Amino acid sequence: MQLIKLNATDSTNNYLKQLLVTTQLEDFCVVTAENQTDGKGQRGEKWISEPGKNLIFSVLKYRPLIPIDKQFLLSVLVSLSIIKTLERYNVPNLSIKWPNDILSDHHKIAGILIENVIKSQQIESSVIGIGLNVNQKIFKGLPKVSSLNNILGMSINKDELLQALISNIQYYFNQYKKNEELFLNSKYASYLFRKDKPSTFQLPNQTMFTGIIRGVTEAGKLRVQMENATKDFDLKELKLVY
Ligand code: BTN
Repeated sequence: MQLIKLNATDSTNNYLKQLLVTTQLEDFCVVTAENQTDGKGQRGEKWISEPGKNLIFSVLKYRPLIPIDKQFLLSVLVSLSIIKTLERYNVPNLSIKWPNDILSDHHKIAGILIENVIKSQQIESSVIGIGLNVNQKIFKGLPKVSSLNNILGMSINKDELLQALISNIQYYFNQYKKNEELFLNSKYASYLFRKDKPSTFQLPNQTMFTGIIRGVTEAGKLRVQMENATKDFDLKELKLVY
C-alpha cells in the first residue's frame, strides 16, 4: 500500500487532491497526518483533532465506477467499512448518523468527508477523508464527542487500526463490484441512527419539528415521515437534534 505519512498539513484531503494533479498515485493510496492546520468537516465546519492522538487520513479511489447520481454509495461503502473495523475492536452500539457520522451510543467517534473529482459526467477519482478519534481523552465543550480510548478504556495502536480500515474499505469496494448494491444500502439502513423512532429536527430557519427517519434515498437524501407527509431532505435542509 502506498502510504504518505505527514507530520502536519492543512488538510489531508487538500494534500491528496493537489498531489493527484501532478503525480500518478496508486489506487487506495493513503495520506495521513499527525496534525491538520485547517481540517475540514461537513457543512463547511472545521475538523479539530488533538495533534498526534487520532487518525486523520485520506484515501484515494480512482474511478470508483459509481454513477454521479448514486455517489452517496461512496458514503455507504465507507461508513460500513468503519463500522466493520470498529466491530472487530468491540466498540459498543455502533450506528451511522446520516449522512456519515459514526457513533458509539450517542457519541460521535468518526467523521467522513468525501470529495469527488468529476470528469465527463463520471467520478474520475474520489478522495475519502476520515477523522477517527482514537486516543484523545478530552473534548472540551463537545459533550457528544468521544474516542475509542474513552469508550474501550485503553490506548489503541493507530497503525494497526489504519491497516484494518484500509483493508475493509477495499473489501467494501469489492462488494460493490460484485453487484451487492442493494445489500449494501440495506446494511447501511440497518445501522441508521434513530431509524423508525420519533425524533426532533431543526430547519435552517430554526423551526423544530418531530418526524420519523424512514431511510435514505439513492440520491442520499434523508427520508423523514412527518405528521401529514413524507419528505426527503438534503444535508443543508435539516439537522437532527439528539
Ligand atoms: C465531519 O464529520 O464533519 C467530517 C470530518 C472529516 C475529517 C477528515 S480528517 C481527514 C480529512 N481531511 C480533512 O480536512 N477532513 C477529513
